[in-house]
Amino acid sequence: MGLDGIKVYLINKPKLKSMTKKVTLSLLAIVFATAASIQSCKKDDKPADKTTPTEFIADSTSFANFSNWSLDKTNFGPSPSLDVAHAGNDSTVTRKVYFKNGQARVNGAYPVGTICVKHSTNPAGTVNEIVGMVKRGNGFNPTTGDWEWFMLDANGKIAKDMSGMEMRGGASMMNGMCNGCHGKASSKDFTFSK
Ligand code: HEC
Repeated sequence: MGLDGIKVYLINKPKLKSMTKKVTLSLLAIVFATAASIQSCKKDDKPADKTTPTEFIADSTSFANFSNWSLDKTNFGPSPSLDVAHAGNDSTVTRKVYFKNGQARVNGAYPVGTICVKHSTNPAGTVNEIVGMVKRGNGFNPTTGDWEWFMLDANGKIAKDMSGMEMRGGASMMNGMCNGCHGKASSKDFTFSK
């Protein structure tokens, strides 16, 4: 039995070698196939893309309770970059900038759906201005990062003009004033405060 076994081993030795080769090769093949399937999984499933919309169209509920959001900046007094915008010429004004869910830039740009609100007030109560910017995406406003601009009312809802139209828009909003001034903050995806 023992001897026979050795014989068999000797006879089959070269065969065994080639088998080992084959096994190694097929193992390699499996490794590659697995790597490829992991890659293709990434390509096909794209879970991140499914949760990140290509366009986000805000409505009045989008700004609800903004004063409880992450307060990312508080500025006081006049600001040279504000001129008369956002009550920037009033030395008693406080300007608070909130980002919903504390959104931040990812690779230099805010994700579609990012919502930011700025609330300007003064102690006398003569200033109560709320503006918003929302990353709408989908080529909505290509000169300034596809942001949509908003004027909000005292309740944080989208303000309406005399004809009942919502005060929102892109490049032409406020005769292009929002776009024009925020264009200076291009290095921070058109936000000044963060
Ligand atoms: C003359 C320049 C100017 C104009 C015009 C302007 N902004 Fe701003 N905005 C600023 C500056 C500067 C800040 C930074 C915060 C601060 O100190 O007030 C700011 C801040 C903001 C913020 C908070 C996020 C950030 O960038 O810091 C929002 C939201 C915003 N502006 C919306 C608007 C909207 C909507 C309009 C048009 C109706 C507009 N802005 C027009 C200069 C301007």
